[in-house]
Amino acid sequence: MKTTVEHQPIEQIAADALIIPVLEGRKEERFGAADLFDSGEVTGKIFELTLIHHPPGVAAARVLLIGAGKPAEFDAAQLRKVAGAAVRHLKSKSCQNVALALEPEWAAANFVSAAVEGAVLGQYEPDQYKTGNEKTALESFRVATGAADAEDAAERGRILGEAQNFTRALVNEPANRLVPADIVAAARQMATEFHLECEVLDREHMKALGMGALLGVAQGSAEPPALIVLRYRPEKPAGAAHLGLVGKGVTFDTGGISIKPSDGMEKMKYDMAGGAAMLGAMRALAQLKPAIPVSAFVPCVENMPGSRAQRPGDIVTTMSGKTVEVINTDAEGRLILADAITYARRQGCTHLVDAATLTGAIVVALGHLRVGLFANQDAMRDRVLAAADAAGERMWPMPLDADYKDYLKSAFADLPNVGGRWGGAVTAAMFLKEFAEDTPWVHLDIAGTAWLDDSKPFLAKGATGLPLRTMVRLAMEWKE
Ligand code: BES
Ligand code: ZN
Ligand code: ZN
Repeated sequence: MKTTVEHQPIEQIAADALIIPVLEGRKEERFGAADLFDSGEVTGKIFELTLIHHPPGVAAARVLLIGAGKPAEFDAAQLRKVAGAAVRHLKSKSCQNVALALEPEWAAANFVSAAVEGAVLGQYEPDQYKTGNEKTALESFRVATGAADAEDAAERGRILGEAQNFTRALVNEPANRLVPADIVAAARQMATEFHLECEVLDREHMKALGMGALLGVAQGSAEPPALIVLRYRPEKPAGAAHLGLVGKGVTFDTGGISIKPSDGMEKMKYDMAGGAAMLGAMRALAQLKPAIPVSAFVPCVENMPGSRAQRPGDIVTTMSGKTVEVINTDAEGRLILADAITYARRQGCTHLVDAATLTGAIVVALGHLRVGLFANQDAMRDRVLAAADAAGERMWPMPLDADYKDYLKSAFADLPNVGGRWGGAVTAAMFLKEFAEDTPWVHLDIAGTAWLDDSKPFLAKGATGLPLRTMVRLAMEWKE
């Protein structure tokens, strides 16, 4: 879908459909819509859809009035959803060229970006394996606005939207079509296209580095593991910060020997959502060019049972030197992240964020609406919370008091890989904290938020792309 800016007056825009966001309580008099208001058919309620054919006074074949909700609640984040919902509706009506009209009061650059980003997100559908259906896709999406610098803003929206769709497409891939080697191939291709440095550590390299925890998880699968490293370097780095983005890349989580129940196991293909989000963030950053260096580290494995699989009770030695007793092979994410975090620190990262579909317990605690955020430093926590807020990705700070460490006791090794019955999301984060050591670090548990069970008006069912937007904001707005 081509995205552009349109400076013509909206009456003159030739399109299959012209999208007009309508706020509650504001009567639309144009396009013959006054009667629809008076009759109560159009109210402006969020995502309300009214399609007018042959609207009077405009060149477009149709006008789509889309409810934008209460004026007090309307902002760029809301516009992103409105644009997405309009696009999702119109592509089902075989419209190909559409334009969205921004009111003069929404002329700020962030509105232009949000409209384009929302349209790109709304356009994506995980239907590539459905045969027989006619594929619907928009050819073009134009934002009609008088805003200055609208072209640059639209471009930023496109970059962010496409990066999220890249992530979503990876996450939605089934595990037979996306093994660790396939994530590697996707990362390499993306790195070449956007001029990022890409290095991939294989099993031998991991052995030499002593990554016993990552290798322990990988040993049950016929698919070899990989640690993907992507590097973005600014021409003139500002300051000494070097941001490291670490993402869990389990292409399928059966649980291993501590096998999961089969009911719902098909969803465990999204256990690489954290890794895919970090790759997508790098894709966007390579184009948006932040002032600080950013590296991504994505450990990729398949967690399988089998005759070579690690067993409960096995003791592995991590790259940090700490030993871990594997009590439950289904708590594999923290094992692979432990070695990836240590590696990121040794690569010179001064600040770290990891994203992982780490625990079912975070879903119990926060449901599907907010990401669980854990941090070992208040300043780093506040940076990420501010970025999340600006990016419109909801997060919530969770505790990491020192005495939660008492929940992690092993008789035979330095640490067990699970705590007891309670506070499962906290003990998982507490485990990771041991490996972040004194590096300012934030852990994002996205088990509840990386996947949508039912589509929204503005977003297809499946992968959401979280927390990509927050990572991009964090890097772009970094201040010493
Ligand atoms: N990948 C799962 C966590 C998960 C659960 C992600 C639900 C998405 C939805 C993780 O590897 C896991 O299995 N965690 C265990 C930990 C337990 C064994 C301590 C869990 O949450 O049950
Ligand atoms: Zn697991
Ligand atoms: Zn997992």
